Amino acid sequence: MASQAEVDFMYTLTDKLFRLSMGDLGDFSGAKYDGDFSLSLRQAQARKHAYVVEQLRVPAGGRVLDLGCGWGGMLAYVRGRGIRGVGVTLSTGQLRACGYHGLEVHLLDARTLTPETFGVFDGVVSLGAFEHFCSTEQYRAGEQDRIYSDFFRSVAALVPPGGRFFLQTMVFGKNMIPFEEVDVRAPRLSNAHVLGLLGKTFPGSWLPQGDGQVERCAQPHFRLVEKENGRRDYIETIRQWRARFARFHWRKSLLYLTLIPWYARSADFRHAFVSGISANTIAFERELLDHFRFVFERREDPTGEPRNGG
Ligand SMILES: C[S@@+](CC[C@H](N)C(=O)[O-])C[C@H]1O[C@@H](n2cnc3c(N)ncnc32)[C@H](O)[C@@H]1O
Repeated sequence: MASQAEVDFMYTLTDKLFRLSMGDLGDFSGAKYDGDFSLSLRQAQARKHAYVVEQLRVPAGGRVLDLGCGWGGMLAYVRGRGIRGVGVTLSTGQLRACGYHGLEVHLLDARTLTPETFGVFDGVVSLGAFEHFCSTEQYRAGEQDRIYSDFFRSVAALVPPGGRFFLQTMVFGKNMIPFEEVDVRAPRLSNAHVLGLLGKTFPGSWLPQGDGQVERCAQPHFRLVEKENGRRDYIETIRQWRARFARFHWRKSLLYLTLIPWYARSADFRHAFVSGISANTIAFERELLDHFRFVFERREDPTGEPRNGG
């Protein structure tokens, strides 16, 4: 798993810049355009929030758990629908920022929650956090399946039978190259280079090997109800993010100045944030990366084998 320091590197360092660019309750995961790129980023993120709640089938008065809740966009939405949201994050900056909005958020590893932590929920959502659950070292040690299986087992214990889990995650795409070839020093813009840059932006994180691995690991505990591909929507989301990050704001200029020491002393920082290349856009375009929204429903007996095969 990416450690708290690694998660902080990305999310706390960029906390203020992110909020000044995206708004205080901005989302940092792929939006849901459904191919309609006339929508604004805000509209497409709102469409995603509404879709999640519809799929979770949690009524007003219910409780939803958000695993890896970021700056609280999803939690604020469920609150607006009269649903009580509880979030966990590993980023201290995000924890503080969610606190400004009175959201119930805790600094906890999403994979360690049990019914004893906050009880059982009517539904669970996780948007863009699963990507961080397996590190490169764990992948190389052959632990990826076990890590995901353990995670699905623990989520299954947090909802009643028939309760739903909405999972949105990037995965490696059909053109992914072997791990050994990924190298930030490879020829500029080669697949190896682009993936090397991504590894610097998200240190300590290795992605699932396609949607198949996610479904296989979930299968003993959850039935797959719905699956959507969000790769093209993600490319548009990143385009909108880049435009917003580039928009002038005097406080952002001051913040950029405070990052100069990082720039000067850390090659990782330069690779991660100022390479001048939108590595994730290129990786999605080349199908080195892919993206999925899964709706899972807990089986009757989450610790046993599936009852109806599928
Ligand atoms: C890409 S952001 C997505 C945030 C939010 N879900 C959204 O859609 O805007 C990833 C989030 O996952 C969190 N995260 C990563 N690994 C985690 C872990 N093991 N436990 C809890 N949160 C984790 C990060 O702190 C961050 O909030």
